[in-house]
Amino acid sequence: PDNGLVRTPPMGWNSWNKFAGKITADDVKSMADAMVATGMNKAGYQYINIDDTWEADRAADGTIQTNNKFPDMKGLADYVHSKGLKIGIYSSPGGKTCAGYEGSFGHEAQDAKTFAAWGIDYLKYDLCGARAIYESTLENERGLYQKMGEALSQSSHPIVYSLCQYGDADVWKWGSKVGGNLWRTTGDIRDTWESMDKIGFSQIAISSYTRAGHWNDPDMLEIGNGGMTPDEYRTHMSLWSMLAAPLIAGNDLRSMSPETSSILLNKEVIAIDQDKAAKPVQALSTKGKVETIWRPMEDGSIIVGIYNRGDAATPANLPWSSLPAGYATKHVSVRDLWKHEAVPANGPAYTASIPPHGVALLRIGAAK
Ligand code: DGJ
Repeated sequence: PDNGLVRTPPMGWNSWNKFAGKITADDVKSMADAMVATGMNKAGYQYINIDDTWEADRAADGTIQTNNKFPDMKGLADYVHSKGLKIGIYSSPGGKTCAGYEGSFGHEAQDAKTFAAWGIDYLKYDLCGARAIYESTLENERGLYQKMGEALSQSSHPIVYSLCQYGDADVWKWGSKVGGNLWRTTGDIRDTWESMDKIGFSQIAISSYTRAGHWNDPDMLEIGNGGMTPDEYRTHMSLWSMLAAPLIAGNDLRSMSPETSSILLNKEVIAIDQDKAAKPVQALSTKGKVETIWRPMEDGSIIVGIYNRGDAATPANLPWSSLPAGYATKHVSVRDLWKHEAVPANGPAYTASIPPHGVALLRIGAAK
């Protein structure tokens, strides 16, 4: 099944990484305002997604209720829409969500209707409560995701379906079959180099499962949350873009530093993520701690990412002759997508010192 949504990876913001259970409707409103004020909407960020902790118990007729932090979900959705943005919400295939709030188990069709009536455009559906119901066999887990997928497919309002089950049971092989537009491929990201590095580089091997409308989701961005250096956050943004991962910011958009916004708003890097060809990223070489990957773009150019996973600055040397077939010519035009400048291509190789945990990201095309 294909609902025709998210032909390029979804971009937006989600409340969890920064706010967890502290999120309120007023925060969500001001985040929508900030998405416009910062120009993130113009750069492609569109979804404002409420994660866990908005839910209250069900009414007598089974309708899901909001708690007092979200007094009027329809009004909130209208507000977000009035800014030209879309709004996402969260539930679980279990009886309870991960944070112990009301889940959708046994109420899938009813909840899909409620979400549609509120004007919700995106649903993140998070496994952990379902584990308490079932010994999680593949059939049961998959069946629970399918139930909500079917309910959403019958919805009067188009809703992006985001599976969140941490990569269990090779979800990238069946996520689209239950209606998923994206599926988490790993456990939760944390705002540390170790977490981001481990998740990011584990994804290259499954990149071929990602395609228009159906995306691998290595979890949301931590850029701007303070636990990594600017170089590490540039690596985070560069790696997620090379993976065609959803770009869901997880920081406080109301108080971004210029450095954070220069990372989240780098249009030349976003263009990689959003490339319409959605071709998989591939390994090019590993030399010590320096890992080089590449991805073909729709316009015939390629992106090469040279990542230094080591703790010390390291010289990179990329002979033009080592580029994939068709690009191994010295007559190339090369652009550095973080420095925003042309790189001389008349020598035999690209050489640079890559900072610890840093990256050089190059767009290489035929000579103009
Ligand atoms: C686990 C998910 O992986 C997180 O992203 C977040 O949604 C929490 N659950 C919420 O309880």
